[in-house]
Amino acid sequence: MIATHQYLVAVIGAGPAGLFGARELANLGARVVLFNRDIKPGGLAEYGIYPNKYTMKSGLRKQFRQIMDIPNLDYYGNVTVGSQGDLTLDDIRALGFQAILVTAGAQGTKWLGLPGEDLEGVYHAKDVVYFYNGLPPYSQKPFRFGKRCAVIGAGNVMLDITHFLSREEKVDEVIAVVRRGPVEVKFDKKEMEYVIDNLDQAALDVEIQRVSPIMQAVDQNPMAARASILEALPKALPKVSDTRFRFEFLASPVQMIGDSKGKLTQVELEDNILVAKDGDTKAKGTGNRRRLDVETVIFAIGDKVDESFGLPVEWNEFVKSPSPRFPIDGHSYESTFEDVFVGGWSRQASSGLVGVARKDGTNASKVVWQYLQTKQPIEPKLQSIAEKVKSLGKPVVLKEDVKKLEAAEIAEAQKRGLEAFKYDNNDQMLQAMGLKETV
Ligand SMILES: Cc1cc2nc3c(=O)[nH]c(=O)nc-3n(C[C@H](O)[C@H](O)[C@H](O)COP(=O)(O)OP(=O)(O)OC[C@H]3O[C@@H](n4cnc5c(N)ncnc54)[C@H](O)[C@@H]3O)c2cc1C
Ligand SMILES: NC(=O)c1ccc[n+]([C@@H]2O[C@H](COP(=O)([O-])OP(=O)(O)OC[C@H]3O[C@@H](n4cnc5c(N)ncnc54)[C@H](OP(=O)(O)O)[C@@H]3O)[C@@H](O)[C@H]2O)c1
Repeated sequence: MIATHQYLVAVIGAGPAGLFGARELANLGARVVLFNRDIKPGGLAEYGIYPNKYTMKSGLRKQFRQIMDIPNLDYYGNVTVGSQGDLTLDDIRALGFQAILVTAGAQGTKWLGLPGEDLEGVYHAKDVVYFYNGLPPYSQKPFRFGKRCAVIGAGNVMLDITHFLSREEKVDEVIAVVRRGPVEVKFDKKEMEYVIDNLDQAALDVEIQRVSPIMQAVDQNPMAARASILEALPKALPKVSDTRFRFEFLASPVQMIGDSKGKLTQVELEDNILVAKDGDTKAKGTGNRRRLDVETVIFAIGDKVDESFGLPVEWNEFVKSPSPRFPIDGHSYESTFEDVFVGGWSRQASSGLVGVARKDGTNASKVVWQYLQTKQPIEPKLQSIAEKVKSLGKPVVLKEDVKKLEAAEIAEAQKRGLEAFKYDNNDQMLQAMGLKETV
C-alpha cells in the first residue's frame, strides 16, 4: 500500500546516477519524479557507450527497465530542467518538491578558448559521441570528418572516437595529440584492442624515441611505457580499414587555422616538456610551435557541467557546499542551495565508469534522505505535477511510452535482421510511441 504522506523528491536526469539514485530513494519510501531531457532514459549508457557494446548496453537497459517499473517512481522524458529549460528549479520547488537531486551529467562544453575553435571541422567529443550514438538533435547535425583527423586527449573517449573514425568513417589518419607523455595516457587496454591493429607501431617507436630524453629527465622508463601501450596487441580486433593511427606526445593545441571558407586546414601545436610536481607530472610549453595538416580536430579532454542549469559553476563543476551537513567519505553532495543535491557526473564531471556513477547517485540519494529526515512528509500533489508537465506545450514521455518505444525498436531490429535498432530522431520516436501523428 502506498502511504498518503511521503517525502517528495525530484531527480533531474535519468542517466545511471539518476536512475540508481531514484531507485535508492524510492526503496527508502520517497515518492520520486524523474525529469529527463532525452526521450529515453539511460544517459551516456544509452548515448555514450560505444554502439556495438550490445551485451553491456542491453544488460544496463534491463536494469533501467526494472527501475522504471518501481510503482512510487514517475518518469517525464523530453523535459529539460534549467534556467532556460522547460521547467526551472523554482518551478520544481513550486510543485511541492522537498528536495531536488541533480544528476544531469556534464552537458557543458570544455572549450579551451583557442583561436579557430569555431571553424568547421572543430568539434567536442561529446557532440561526436552523441552523433554516432543517435541522440537527437546531434544525430541530425552535419559533421565533417576529413581524411586526417586530430583527436586531443589520451582517455577512453579519445579511443572511442578513434574507434569510430577508423572502423566506421575509415579516414586516412587519426593522430592522438597528448599533452603529456606515454606514461600519463589514461585509456584502458581493453579499449585499445578495438584500434591497435590500426596503430602505426613504427611511428610509435620513433615518437617514443623522440620523447625519451624528456621522460628520462623525470625518471620515467620509455620502454616500459611503450610495452604498456602495446599490451592490447594479443587481443587486437582485426582492422577493417587502412586508417593510420598514431600518437603525438608532449604537444598541446594552441590554435586552429582555416581557409577562406571557414574550414579547418591545420592545427598548431606547442611542444611540451614534463615537470615533476607533487608525485605527478605537469606539461610545460617550450614555446616551440609546429603545424599538422588536418581537416578535423576533436577535443576529447573531458566535459564540464551545464552553465545554464541554474546552479553556480566553478571551473568545470557545480559549486558544492564546502561544509556539507551530510558528507560521505569526505565528499559533499550538496549544492549551495539547501534543498538541491548533486550526484554522478553532475557532482564530478567526466569521472569514471557507469559503476562509479551508480554508486555516486546512490550516495547522493542517501544524503537527500538524511536531509528529508529534517522535514515532515507531505501529501504529494501528483495531479498538479502531471498537469504542469502537460501544459508545457510539447510531447512529454511517460513510463508506458518508453515501453512502447522499446518494443517498437526491438520489432524494427528483428525486421531488419539487426542486433539492435535505434530511432535517431525525435519525430520517429514520438510516432513510435503514438505521441505524434505519422505524416
Ligand atoms: C563516450 C563515452 C563512452 C563511455 N563508455 C563507457 C563504457 O563503455 N563503460 C562504462 O562503464 N562507462 C562508460 N562511460 C562512462 C559512463 O557513461 C558514465 O560514467 C555515466 O553515464 C555517467 O552517468 P550520469 O548519470 O552521471 O550522467 P549521464 O549518463 O550523462 O546522464 C545524464 C542524464 O541527464 C539528462 N539531462 C541532462 N541535462 C538535463 C536537464 N537540463 N534537464 C533534465 N535532464 C537532463 C540527460 O538526458 C541524461 O539522461 C562512457 C562515457 C563516455 C562519455
Ligand atoms: N569504454 C570505456 O570504458 C569508456 C569510454 C569512454 C569514457 N570512459 C570513462 O569516462 C570518463 C571520461 O573519459 P575522458 O576520456 O573524457 O576523460 P579522461 O580519462 O580524464 O581523459 C581526458 C584526457 O584529456 C586530456 N586533457 C584534459 N584537459 C586537457 C587540456 N586542457 N589540453 C589537452 N589535453 C587535456 C587529459 O590529459 P591529462 O592527463 O594531462 O590531464 C587526458 O589525457 C573516464 O572515467 C573514462 O574511463 C570509459
